[in-house]
Amino acid sequence: MAKGQTQDFKEILFTPAEISDMVSELGRKITDDFSGKEFVVIGLLKGSVMFMADLLREIKLPCEIDFMAVSSYGKGTETLGRVNILKDISNSVLGKDVLIVEDIVDSGVTLSFIIKHLKNKGAKKVSVCTLLNKTARRKKQVDVQYVGVDVQDEFVAGYGMDYAENYRNIPFIGVLKEEIYQK
Ligand code: IMP
Ligand code: MG
Repeated sequence: MAKGQTQDFKEILFTPAEISDMVSELGRKITDDFSGKEFVVIGLLKGSVMFMADLLREIKLPCEIDFMAVSSYGKGTETLGRVNILKDISNSVLGKDVLIVEDIVDSGVTLSFIIKHLKNKGAKKVSVCTLLNKTARRKKQVDVQYVGVDVQDEFVAGYGMDYAENYRNIPFIGVLKEEIYQK
């Protein structure tokens, strides 16, 4: 069967319209809170790519953008607990306010590592915006100031999020059929 197909999903959790509403609301809050500040928005590749692009258009303020890529997952659906930097930020964050943009926070391991990393690089203040917040399996306590929506402990894909590098370009967010994981 072709990979990355919509028929691999058993359920749609959030439609493109619902995602768009959440993103607008987050953008409004961030615009209010960061008004008058010099800040840099840092997207975590690759999962946040869609969210980052849409959210940035809802932040009606001047800002810098940057990206980091880290890996903590292998091919599976659970974090391995060890975070490796695949790509670091390209500009200095020294003395700047930073907003991290994440697709989904699960164990919190990735985020707590990145927050520490950016503080070590001299960021003044580090805030976090995630579209989805999966609190059930949190291992590391992290402060997340901007949350699109809380989700249950189910593995989701679409809108940037993958399973084994597939489904990132699906425009909705959904839950895959069990048989997809068993291949
Ligand atoms: P954490 O370190 O366990 O919080 O994992 C965070 C990262 O794992 C996120 O940035 C996602 O890229 C990925 N992730 C966590 N849960 C899911 C999921 O349900 N679907 C797809 N990716 C996920
Ligand atoms: Mg991610």
